[in-house]
Amino acid sequence: MRIVGAAAEPADALRVPASADGALSTSGSAAGYPPAATTTTEPLLTRHRPRSGRLTVAPSILATIGNTPLIRLTGFLDHEDVALYLKFEAANPGGSVKDRPALRMLEQAIRTGRAGPDTVVVESSSGNTGIGLAQVCAYYGLRFVCVVDGRTQPHNLAIMRALGAELEAVDAPLDGSVDLLAARLDRVASLLAQLDDAFWPNQYANIHNPRAHQLGTMAEIDAALGGTVDDLFVAVSSTGTIGGCLEHVAHHDRDTRVVAVDAEGSVLFGGTAGRRVIPGLGAGRVPSLAIGREVDEVARVSDLDCVVGCRRLALTDAVLIGGSAGGALQVVRERQAELRGRTCVVIAADSGHRYLDTVFDDAWVERTLGAGPSEVAHRIGPLPEGRL
Ligand SMILES: Cc1ncc(COP(=O)(O)O)c(C=O)c1O
Repeated sequence: MRIVGAAAEPADALRVPASADGALSTSGSAAGYPPAATTTTEPLLTRHRPRSGRLTVAPSILATIGNTPLIRLTGFLDHEDVALYLKFEAANPGGSVKDRPALRMLEQAIRTGRAGPDTVVVESSSGNTGIGLAQVCAYYGLRFVCVVDGRTQPHNLAIMRALGAELEAVDAPLDGSVDLLAARLDRVASLLAQLDDAFWPNQYANIHNPRAHQLGTMAEIDAALGGTVDDLFVAVSSTGTIGGCLEHVAHHDRDTRVVAVDAEGSVLFGGTAGRRVIPGLGAGRVPSLAIGREVDEVARVSDLDCVVGCRRLALTDAVLIGGSAGGALQVVRERQAELRGRTCVVIAADSGHRYLDTVFDDAWVERTLGAGPSEVAHRIGPLPEGRL
């Protein structure tokens, strides 16, 4: 079923009222957004300026989580008749999509009495969830121990430390495993056994992880585009984001096709374990949240696909995104001929700022992925004309 309604001002369409835990109010949704770029009568140089709106005061940093922008991408694809949008989760205050489940999982624990002032929060994270939890724990004054591994970017470790988190590093996989996830979860188990009052949000099994995206991320996308999303591309790891999106689509009887973008070398959705270096994409073991979860389609991307998508978007639309979203965008680019006339959304989990020393670094790409600058430039392909 599709919702069709009156067109609205773009700026109003993006201002979807949401409470801090992502629960949407019913006002503010707008169908028909955005109008085609060619129909605007605004002068070119003012078209993209934010409109002056109400000045609001957030009661806390946590109240600024969610309600992120949905950005129309006009340069990334060759075909102008694919309406492509990016849900820009880097706009969350902790810098990623994981602020949403971090907030919801902890607030549910506090609300139900599972976590109190003396509780130590323990979680395994390759970065973004750790930062999201560190932010919420710092706000509530809770002790937080994050189990990280050697793939975690130094920059992410520094952010968690700055927010008062204690870090436990795991360096070697458990015997017989190629992935560090099992070793991280093993360390979580021993911490939980040692601590008197510990709470493990367990993002891999906690239903409040997908619920945060059902009520927040996907509800916002759906409201901003008036329920007209044809294809949604979601990078997967815990599968919380895609699980929440699928729930929303099912509850609202949408025709949206939901595509899981997974890494080559990830075991999710029937994949085979192997080497992968882009953080936040894929998994070394199937999380509880993924068991029985069916997606419309699975697209597998290489580490180099992720790099190419990130590099191209920076040059075509001036948006810096993280590796997993670069991979998702490359999937759209490869299929653009079959997507003509459709409305597509890619959820970008985090910002390219976190990948300046990896994805955006030529020496790292050559050393780690064996692709030199000319090969990367060739894969990025021709760029569109300037906009002036
Ligand atoms: C950068 C990045 N992309 C994608 C994902 C996948 O999100 P989910 O765990 O909800 O499947 C994550 C999760 O940590 C991430 O950090």
